Amino acid sequence: FHRCEKTPPAQPRSVFSIQIVEKNAEPEMTLLTYLRRKLCLTGTKLGCAEGGCGACTVMVSRFHSNRNAIVHQAVNACLAPICSLHHCAVTTVEGIGSVASKVHPVQERIAKAHGSQCGFCTPGIVMSMYALLRNNPQPMMRDIEEAFQGNLCRCTGYRPILEGYKTFTKKEGCCGSRGKAGACYMITGQKEEKGDSTNSVQQLFDPSEFMPLDPTQEIIFPPELMSLSKQPLRELRFIGERMQWIQPSSLKELLQLKAEYPAAKLVVGNTEVGIEMKYKNQFYPLILAPAFIDELNSIHHKCTLGIVFGASVTLTLLGNVLHGEVNKLPSYKTEVFQAILRQLHWFAGQQIRNVAAIGGNIMTASPISDLNPVFMAAGCKLTLMSKGKINIFFLNLGSKVVCYRKTALKPEEILLSIEIPYTRKYFSAFKQSPRKEDDIAIVTCGMNVVFWEGSNIVQDIQLSYGGMASTTVLATTTTCEMLLWDEEMLQDACSYLTEEMTLSPSAPGGMVAYRRTLTISLFFKFFLTVQHKLAQEAVPPGQNMDDVIGRPIMHLSAVKQATGEAVYCDDIPCYKNELYLALVTSTKPHAYIKSIDTTDAMAVPGVVTFVCAKDIPGSNKTGPVVYDETVLADEKVTCVGHIVGAIVADTPAHAQRAAKAVRISYQELQAVIITIQDAIANESFYQPTRTIERGDLTQGFQESDNILQGEIHIGGQEHFYLETNCTLAVPRGEDGEMELFVSTQSTAKTQALVAKALGVPASHIVCRVKRMGGGFGGKETRSTILSTIVAVAAHKVKRAVRCMLDRDEDMLVSGGRHPFFGRYKVGFKKNGKVMALDVTYYSNAGNSMDLSLSRALLHMDNCYNIPHVRGTGYICRTNLPSNTAFRGFGGPQGMMVAESWINDVALSCGLPAEQVRELNLYKQGEYTPFNQCLEQFTIDRCWRECMNISDFHQRKANVELYNKQHRWTKRGLSIIPTKFGISFTAAGALVHIYTDGSVLLTHGGTEMGQGLHTKMVQVASRTLEIPSTKIFISETSTNTVPNTSPTAASASSDLNGMAVYNACKTLLQRLEPYKAKNPKGFWEDWVTAAYFDRVNLSANGFYKTPDLGYDFETNSGHPFNYFSYGVAVSEVEIDCLTGSHKNLHTSIVMDVGKSLNPALDIGQVEGAFMQGVGLFTLEELRYSSQGYLYTRGPGMYKIPAFGDIPTELKVSLLRDAPNEKAIFSSKAVGEPPLFLAASVFYAIKDAITAARAESGLIGPFRLDSPATPERIRNACEDKFTKLCPPPEPGTYTPWDVRV
Ligand SMILES: Cc1cc2nc3c(=O)[nH]c(=O)nc-3n(C[C@H](O)[C@H](O)[C@H](O)COP(=O)(O)OP(=O)(O)OC[C@H]3O[C@@H](n4cnc5c(N)ncnc54)[C@H](O)[C@@H]3O)c2cc1C
Ligand code: FES
Ligand code: FES
Repeated sequence: FHRCEKTPPAQPRSVFSIQIVEKNAEPEMTLLTYLRRKLCLTGTKLGCAEGGCGACTVMVSRFHSNRNAIVHQAVNACLAPICSLHHCAVTTVEGIGSVASKVHPVQERIAKAHGSQCGFCTPGIVMSMYALLRNNPQPMMRDIEEAFQGNLCRCTGYRPILEGYKTFTKKEGCCGSRGKAGACYMITGQKEEKGDSTNSVQQLFDPSEFMPLDPTQEIIFPPELMSLSKQPLRELRFIGERMQWIQPSSLKELLQLKAEYPAAKLVVGNTEVGIEMKYKNQFYPLILAPAFIDELNSIHHKCTLGIVFGASVTLTLLGNVLHGEVNKLPSYKTEVFQAILRQLHWFAGQQIRNVAAIGGNIMTASPISDLNPVFMAAGCKLTLMSKGKINIFFLNLGSKVVCYRKTALKPEEILLSIEIPYTRKYFSAFKQSPRKEDDIAIVTCGMNVVFWEGSNIVQDIQLSYGGMASTTVLATTTTCEMLLWDEEMLQDACSYLTEEMTLSPSAPGGMVAYRRTLTISLFFKFFLTVQHKLAQEAVPPGQNMDDVIGRPIMHLSAVKQATGEAVYCDDIPCYKNELYLALVTSTKPHAYIKSIDTTDAMAVPGVVTFVCAKDIPGSNKTGPVVYDETVLADEKVTCVGHIVGAIVADTPAHAQRAAKAVRISYQELQAVIITIQDAIANESFYQPTRTIERGDLTQGFQESDNILQGEIHIGGQEHFYLETNCTLAVPRGEDGEMELFVSTQSTAKTQALVAKALGVPASHIVCRVKRMGGGFGGKETRSTILSTIVAVAAHKVKRAVRCMLDRDEDMLVSGGRHPFFGRYKVGFKKNGKVMALDVTYYSNAGNSMDLSLSRALLHMDNCYNIPHVRGTGYICRTNLPSNTAFRGFGGPQGMMVAESWINDVALSCGLPAEQVRELNLYKQGEYTPFNQCLEQFTIDRCWRECMNISDFHQRKANVELYNKQHRWTKRGLSIIPTKFGISFTAAGALVHIYTDGSVLLTHGGTEMGQGLHTKMVQVASRTLEIPSTKIFISETSTNTVPNTSPTAASASSDLNGMAVYNACKTLLQRLEPYKAKNPKGFWEDWVTAAYFDRVNLSANGFYKTPDLGYDFETNSGHPFNYFSYGVAVSEVEIDCLTGSHKNLHTSIVMDVGKSLNPALDIGQVEGAFMQGVGLFTLEELRYSSQGYLYTRGPGMYKIPAFGDIPTELKVSLLRDAPNEKAIFSSKAVGEPPLFLAASVFYAIKDAITAARAESGLIGPFRLDSPATPERIRNACEDKFTKLCPPPEPGTYTPWDVRV
C-alpha cells in the first residue's frame, strides 16, 4: 500500500511521500479511517461517511495489466475498504503540495479565486480537480462540472470554485460551445450581447498570478507497484477482528469459494455494501472481492448483437466504452447506449462511478436502481455462473429480482456478465429525483418501442419503472394493450398505466400522487420523443452566466485549507490514552425510560464506560436562555434522538458498535405532538405568545376593495455544515480544570454550560476554537449539548475524550431551521395597494425552547408599508429535537409569508406581481410595524439597479413569448426585495504587540468560513497602520476574551470589528510618543522603544451596540441597529410533466454598506443565496408520524450541488451606500442575502401560474416551500394529474408527515 506516489528527486515541488506496508489490514477499516487515525493524515475530511459529500476524496492510481495502463481516479475514501487497495497508490491532498513547501496550482487557484470559505470541503474538491487534471490536463468546462458532481460545499455557492478552475480549461469552446454564437458561456457570459454592464465589474482575482500547470512535473506512479501489478494474481486473505476478506485470484477460485461459503458476500465498489454495514446494521463476516478477476472485467463486442460487460466493470468504464460507440456508430444503433449514458450522467458522483460496478447495481436489486429499468426495457442478457454451471437470463422477460433488494440468484451463483444490445428503435430513459445531480430517483424508467417496418404498428414495447414497487417492474398489462402508436393509444395507455402503476397511500417514500402522475407524465414524454424522432425534428439552445464586482483580500486560511493543513477540531492529534465517545439516543418520541441495559455494550472490546445522567457531577439542567433541557435524559425522553447516554471506548468503531448494543426499554406516553397542526390541535405552545399591532385593522379592512385569505407552510432546513459537531475534552488533572477544543460558534456558552454540568467555576474551564467547517447557526447553541456530554465523560474517566458526530447522528440530534406555518388575511385596493394585514405565524420549535423567539414577526412586512397590521407568533412545543438558529433565524420565514400574500394580491388583481410589489415598497423615513424609522433606506436604489442589470422588461417579454410557444415547459420571472434587521449585543478583543513587532490579535468571534478573522486583521491593519502580514490570529478562546456573544446574527464583524478597533486605538495612542520622537523610524523601532520604556503593549477593547432594546408589550424601542437591503431577480424554467426546474438567471444587488472586503462579501452573498435556493426549492426534511427522521445524510437530504447554481448569476454590491452605524461604514452580510433566493421560488410560482392558465386555472393558489418537483408537478394541474388524485386524508397512515 502506497500512500502517495514517489517524487523523483529532480522535481521542484517537494511533496510528502511515503511507502507504507500494512500486513494486517483490518477488513472493516475504510481508507479514510486509516488515513486519519492510523497515519494522522488529517487533510482528507470526514463529512458524511456515505459517499455523498466528497470531503474525503483522494486519488487512487492503479496499473491495469489487461489495459496496460495506469488509471488515476477520484475515490471516496470513506467507502473504500483498506483491503481493496492492494497494489494501489493513494494520493491525498497532503501529497500534492503544502504551504510549507510549495502549493499545487489546483490548491493555489481555489484559494486565490475565493473558492474556500470554511475550507472543510476544499481538500475533497482539490483532489477531484487534481484527479481530473491527471487524466486530462486541459479539460472542458463540462468535464469539470462532471468531476464535481460528487462534491458538496455549503458555504461558497460554488461559482468562485468554478471560476478559479475555469482557468485550467481550453481557451476555446470550453463549455462545449453552449454559449452564445458557439462561444463558451463560462467566459463570455452576457457581456458579448449587452456591452458593458451598468455596474462595471472588477476582477476578484488575477489569473496572471497563477502558477502554470505543468503535467510533466506531476509525481509518477511508483515503479515498484508497477512491477508488482504485472505479476500473476495470487489469492489474498486479510483476517480482522470479526471479519475476513478474501481476494480470489481467478474465476475458478471465486466459484470454488462461493460453493464452499455460499453466504459469503461479494464486494466490488463497496458503495452499497459499505452503506449497509455502516448505516443499516448489516454485518458480513466473509467478503469475497472479485474486482481484479479478468473474466469479470472483460468487455467483448459481439458484432451485431451488442456488447458484453463483465460484472465488475465500473460505471466509469461502462460510460467510456458506450461513449466511444455512440461517437462511432449511427445514432439509431445506439439509442440504448445513449439512454444508459443519460442515466449515468445523473448517477451518483464521479467518485462513486469510478468504483461502483455494473454487477453491483444489478445485484443490489434496488427498486430505484437507475440501470435496471434500462436493462429490462432493453432486454439485456445476464450470464450467471456457479461452480460447473452457467445460467442465461433475459431481463425483458421479467427481472431476477424477487422482492425488495433480493434476487433469485442461488447462494452459490454469481453474476458473470451482462450483454447490452444495440438499439431496437425507439429507446429512452428518464430519471426524476429531487435534485438533478447525485441523487436517488423518485421514479426512474426505461422505455422501448419497436414498430413493424414502415408503420406505426407496435411490434414490441417495454415500459419498465423503478420507484413504483418494491422491485423494478414492467408495465405488462398496459403494453399488451398498445397496438397502434397514435393519440388514441396515448389516452388509453395513460388510463391503463393509472390502473397498473398503483401505490398504497402509505407506500414508503411518500409522494404517492406525484409518483403515480410521473409514470404517466414520463410515458407522455417518451411518446413526444418518439413522435419527434419520427418527424425527425431537432432540439434547442444553451445559456450564460456570471458577473461580480469588488476587489479582494483572500481568506487568510484559504491556501492552508486547500492543502489540507488547516486544522479543524477532529484534526487535533490524539492525546495519549485518549478515548472516543458515541451517543446513545432515544428511539421513542415521548416516553418514560423504564430501564437501560448495557450488558451487551460493555462486552464489546475496548469499552471503558457508559455515561448517563447520574454521572453528571453538577447540574443536569441546561439550555442557552432557559434551562429547560437535560444534558442527558434522566426519566423521560421527549423526541426521537433525545440523548440518553454515551459509550466511551478505545476507538470510534468500538464506541459506535457498543452504543448500538445499549438496550433501553420505554413506557410510551401520549400525546405525541410532531407537526405544527398537532401543536395547534393540542394548544402546545411555549409562552409568551407575541403580538405586534399598529393602526386599526377594522378600519384597514373597511377601506379595502378586496380581502383574501391564504396559507403557506415553509419546511425546515438542516444546517449541513460539512464538518459535523465535534468536541475534544482534556481534563487538566487539578482543581477540576478542563480544556475543551470545540467546533462551536459560542465559546462562552460552551464554557458556562460545561462548568455548570461539572459543578466547577467557569474560570476552571477553557474553551478553544481554531476554526469550524461551517456553522450557519447550527453550532451556536446545540453544540453545547455534545460538548457538555464529552466533558462529563472526560471528567468521569479522567482521560481525554473525543467525539465527532457521524452525519446521521448530527442530523438526528442537533435540530435545524424552524418549519413555519403562516395564515393571513389581507385587505387591498383594486390597484394592489395593501391596506390591512392580519397574519399569524406558527413555528415548530421542538422539545425545548432553545433560541426560539418571535423574530418572524419583525419581518412580517418584509419591505412593504402596511398601514394597518397585526402579527401574532406562536412557538409550538413538539416532540422533535429542538430547532435552533439558522442563517436568518426566522426572518426568511417571516418574509416568505409576506411574499406569499403580496403574490396572492397581484394574482387576485390580475396585475403583474412586480408592479404590486413596487407599489407597496417602503419609502425613506417611513415606519415599520414595530415603529422603527427607516433611515438610509436603499431598497429603491437596489430595486432600480436590479431591474436594470437583469434587463427585467426584455426578459419578461421573452418569458411571455416562450410560454406562448411551449405547452409542457414554462418559464417564470420574479423580483424580490429584502430588508434584514441587524442587532446584537457586545464583543471584546485583546491585542498583544510583541517585541519583534508582530501582533497577536484575539477577539470574541469564531471563524467558520465567513472570513471574520480576515476582516478583523484588515481592521487591525488599517487602525495600527501596519501591513496585515504582521498580524496573526491563532484561535478564539475563553481565557483571552471572556463573556463574548456567540458569533451569530451577522453582526460579528460589526461588534468585534469595533472592539478590535478600540483595542488598536489604545495601543496606537501608547505608541504615539515614540512615533513622534522618531518619525522616520519603523514600526519595530517604536515598539522596541516603548517596550524599553515599560509601556504596556497589550490592550483590550470592548464594544456594545448603542440604543438597542425593544418591548413587545408597548411596541416601542429599537429591535435593530440598522437594516441591510437587497433585491434579486430570477428566471426559471419548469418541466410541467415532471416538476423539475432549471435556474436560468439570477441578478442580485446587495447593499453591504462600504464593503470591508468585497471578495468575502460576495462570497457571503452567493453562499447565502444558494443556501436559500436549497431552503426554498430543494431541501426537505422528512419525518414519520412518530417523529422519526428519515433524511439523515446526503443520500436522502439534498443540499444544492454544483449543477444547481443559476446558469447565469450576477452579483453586485450597491455602490456609495456607506453605513454610519458600523465599522468603517460597512454592513452585515451573512444572513441578509439568504432570503433573495425567494426570487427563485416566486419565479417557479410564476411559471406554474402560466402552466395552470393552460388548464383554465387563474387566480391565487397555494404553493408551499420548498418548491420540490412533487409540489411543482402537483400544482401544474392538467389531465394527467386528474387521473391520479391524492389519497383522501385521514383514510391512511402516510409514510411521512409535514412538520
Ligand atoms: C453516494 C451514492 C450514490 C448512489 N447513487 C446511485 C444512483 O444515482 N443510482 C443508482 O442506481 N444507484 C446509486 N447508488 C447505489 C450504488 O452505487 C450502485 O448500486 C452501485 O452500482 C453498486 O456497485 P458496487 O460495485 O459498489 O456494489 P457493492 O457494494 O460492491 O455490491 C453491491 C451488491 O452487489 C453484489 N454483487 C456485486 N457483484 C456481484 C456479482 N458479480 N455477482 C453477484 N453479486 C454481486 C454484492 O454482493 C452486493 O450485494 C449510489 C450509492 C452511493 C453510496
Ligand atoms: S465523507 Fe466520504 S463522501 Fe462524505
Ligand atoms: S467552503 Fe465548502 S463547505 Fe465550507
